[in-house]
Amino acid sequence: MDITILGIESSCDDTSAAVLRNNVLLSNVIASQAVHVKYGGVIPELASRAHQQNIIPVVDTALKEAGVAADRIDAIAFTRGPGLVGSLLVGVSFTKGLSIARNIPMVEVNHLQGHILSHFIDLRDRTLPHPDFPFLCLLVSGGHTQIVRVDSPLEMEIIGTTIDDAAGEAFDKCAKVMGLPYPGGPVIDRLAKEGDPKAFRFAHPRVEGYDYSFSGLKTSFLYTLRDAVAADPDFIETHKADLCASLQGTIVEILLDKLIRASKETGIRDIAIAGGVSANSGLRDGIAEAGRRRGWRTFLPEFKFTTDNAAMIAMAGYYRYLRGDFSSLDVSPVARLEE
Ligand code: KG4
Ligand code: ZN
Repeated sequence: MDITILGIESSCDDTSAAVLRNNVLLSNVIASQAVHVKYGGVIPELASRAHQQNIIPVVDTALKEAGVAADRIDAIAFTRGPGLVGSLLVGVSFTKGLSIARNIPMVEVNHLQGHILSHFIDLRDRTLPHPDFPFLCLLVSGGHTQIVRVDSPLEMEIIGTTIDDAAGEAFDKCAKVMGLPYPGGPVIDRLAKEGDPKAFRFAHPRVEGYDYSFSGLKTSFLYTLRDAVAADPDFIETHKADLCASLQGTIVEILLDKLIRASKETGIRDIAIAGGVSANSGLRDGIAEAGRRRGWRTFLPEFKFTTDNAAMIAMAGYYRYLRGDFSSLDVSPVARLEE
């Protein structure tokens, strides 16, 4: 029997709704919020207001594009956390309203599991590659950097995590130091293509096990720039591409180092990446190259599944639905949700 899931995502600054039939994506609509660009970061209060404005039209469009009437939905999957509470609250409240009005069950989803399970989505016109269990997923976003051992769609273990900044944060904060617009990750990625990754050397962290740290790199980047700008005020402008390429190269090396170790020690060679930073071309090339050398099967998400989207929430919701994991109406959003 076909299962149709409506997914709702509102954890940060993207309002998204998607319709999934089993694991086939019928629609995925995303309204991104331009309002934060001029502040150089996400302003939580503005984010919740924009979610409130966007959510009804976004859900409406997703249902129309899918050609599915609201009363044909088997369950609504929504992001319960982690994320900004005010943003999450809009998605959670909307889900409850629709659930009551149409008598549709609700399924809560952990946003991070959503990113990982995006690797099981297929499109209407083509199937996509799916990893086999167990696999390792490097989850890299603006808020998280983790190595997750995935044993089944609902059994995951975080075996490594950042002890300070996330990789996306390192991109965004260093971009800010160079005067680049927010979010800085994609801008650095673009500028890095013209630069030499060996032009500058920045600090590599020493952290136990499979954990990460990016705060030392940020400081090392800041000091390099501060000293160089003192000697030459135009330094950033004239060396922008090399700075971006070297920074990106360092972040990719740091990420790969622990991932390679985790693969060696667990013997797991199906390796996936997910989250906003998995759009990074340096990381994608780095993973593919490491995979060729080490005999990994590597899984790089389609670009539309790298940043926040409701398709992945619907996919994770589908697996919970199959297990009968429904949420009650007293469910509330959670800013930090580690499973
Ligand atoms: O997963 P995501 O959309 O939101 C969170 O849950 O955090 O990730 C956003 C992060 C931002 O830090 C952004 O700069 C980064 O992903 N990002 C990139 C690229 N595209 C997005 N970082 C590096 N290179 C990119 N191409
Ligand atoms: Zn995310």
